[in-house]
Amino acid sequence: MNILIAGNWKMNPQTKKEAEELAEKVAAFVPLKRDSGAPVEVLICPPFVYLAEVSLKRNEGGFVLGAQNCFYEEKGAFTGEVSAQILKDAGCQYVIAGHSERRKYFGETDEIVNKKIKAILGAGLAPIFCAGETKDQRDSQNAENVVERQIKEGLKDISATDKLVLAYEPVWAIGTGNACSWQDAEAMKNHIKKFLPEGVRILYGGSVTSQNCAEYIKQAGFDGLLVGGASLNAEEFGKIIKNSE
Ligand code: PGA
Repeated sequence: MNILIAGNWKMNPQTKKEAEELAEKVAAFVPLKRDSGAPVEVLICPPFVYLAEVSLKRNEGGFVLGAQNCFYEEKGAFTGEVSAQILKDAGCQYVIAGHSERRKYFGETDEIVNKKIKAILGAGLAPIFCAGETKDQRDSQNAENVVERQIKEGLKDISATDKLVLAYEPVWAIGTGNACSWQDAEAMKNHIKKFLPEGVRILYGGSVTSQNCAEYIKQAGFDGLLVGGASLNAEEFGKIIKNSE
């Protein structure tokens, strides 16, 4: 199984020019082969409107393209929304679903996330399904229950999971600089594995840096990383790619 290093640019950068420059710089850091021979897969998820420009910066065998969100209906009168099929046509291979910022700011429930995952799989794309507990939930010893519920509800009535990627992202670790220790992350991964279908890649996300990235891959045994803030700095993201090999 190859390692997936995914960059979630969120609502950044502010201009097309900056997006092009960032994509071009990242492209230079993408290895074509790992030393071991197995490729590290590098994924960039820019804002929708930059997908075309970022796509043009892909070098041969370089990074792949993904989206940060989609709507669950296939087509029609849904003003302002983008379907999985539209994203596929734009060159995306992955779509993030259930990110905690979408749950928090846009009211996405487990049920909505479930519909989105079905739509993404239905379009032949790979969902990166995010799950994670808040600080209160962890402090009250509820982290495992919350993550288990999110995953079971999110995957309700879904049997074809070969393309599915799961990202464990503790909410309190996202964008805070307060990353989850690799030991705690590993413990949650081991819990998740008890009920997640076999073969699903599991990523860690939450304040990943070039300093801590290797711990999640090499010590805790994650299959990759979902990187937010650090993916906006090409040199730092390049180091994360390199240190995760
Ligand atoms: P962060 O974000 O790396 O900035 O903590 C991670 C994410 O939201 O996916």
